[in-house]
Amino acid sequence: MNAKIILLPGDGIGPEVVAEAVRVLSAVATHGGHNLKFTERLMGGCSIDRYGVALTDEVLADCQASDAVFLGAVGGPKWDDPQAKVRPEQGLLALRKGLKVFANLRPVKVRSPLIDVSPLKRNRIEGVDILVVRELTGGLYFAQPKERSITPEGYERAVDTLEYYDYEVRRVADIAFRLASDRRKKVTSVDKANILESSRLWRQVTTAVAADYPGITLEHLLVDTASMRLLIAPRQFDVIVTDNMFGDILTDEAAVLAGSMGMLPSASLGASGPGLYEPIHGSAPDIAGKGIANPLATILSGAMLLRYSLKLNAEAEAIERAVDRTLEKGFRTADLLTAGERAVSTREMTEQVLHELE
Ligand code: IPM
Ligand code: MG
Repeated sequence: MNAKIILLPGDGIGPEVVAEAVRVLSAVATHGGHNLKFTERLMGGCSIDRYGVALTDEVLADCQASDAVFLGAVGGPKWDDPQAKVRPEQGLLALRKGLKVFANLRPVKVRSPLIDVSPLKRNRIEGVDILVVRELTGGLYFAQPKERSITPEGYERAVDTLEYYDYEVRRVADIAFRLASDRRKKVTSVDKANILESSRLWRQVTTAVAADYPGITLEHLLVDTASMRLLIAPRQFDVIVTDNMFGDILTDEAAVLAGSMGMLPSASLGASGPGLYEPIHGSAPDIAGKGIANPLATILSGAMLLRYSLKLNAEAEAIERAVDRTLEKGFRTADLLTAGERAVSTREMTEQVLHELE
């Protein structure tokens, strides 16, 4: 198989973790006789420095013409001025929108060697395997107006709009139900329907979609309740489907179950066209350039790329098994340390995964 993959390493630890994950993808491709052509482009703060915008039209066009886009992370203190007109995050949002990747899959798996890394009790989190499907191109992140003004009384006023269309809810719910069919056949839809009109639409549409999937149980939870249940009874969840903002917040919370943000991969998919793959963690400027970042979230995002964009399921599973074996052998980056272990570097962690792949 031939595939064109655009790499957007971005800022902070992004370039370090993407470089390592590419080594793993290349190893798998070479072994299977696949030809993956990687092309690196700028997006985020690095693009602002060079072109004055976080994502140029050329780079977006390259991404649209690819088979998959593989992203590191964007942002950092250098571009954090709240007054700034251009921000690294704008590139990420423009990319998600430009690729029309409305469904963001964020698997949250508690891997048994890492149970004690989580501050939560072992008996609560053992066996947790959740797939969060976050709506990614609508809601509070994108709806207009978004504005600032000064009222006649002299108050500063800021507006964000929370808007959803039925088709936006339907298409993401449909993906959630399809994915649940291959799992434990339960979908939990998370909203705030006791308060928000958009959530009442969300609930109505997810309920209607459920009628097409008679084998799957649909449960509705309010987001406040869901955030608590994620910590006290996380095993009750199989697939969670929720809006853009709630999904952003709940997946950071869920990362605590997995032990570290450094463990969570993601895949963003649309109806057709290239998928976007990225770790859910940020650019971690505090540890950038030190070679100590955890590459596993990005390596696991690479596995998702193989599975969803290239249909290389066996290869994806091989990477996931190699990651599990590496952890079982006790290799830990700094974010995964409990008492008394030695941390390995980003590079060493990847070497071990490559070793386990063979
Ligand atoms: C994420 C991140 C992004 C988001 C930021 C960096 C814009 O937090 O992917 O979860 O809010 O979507
Ligand atoms: Mg986030």
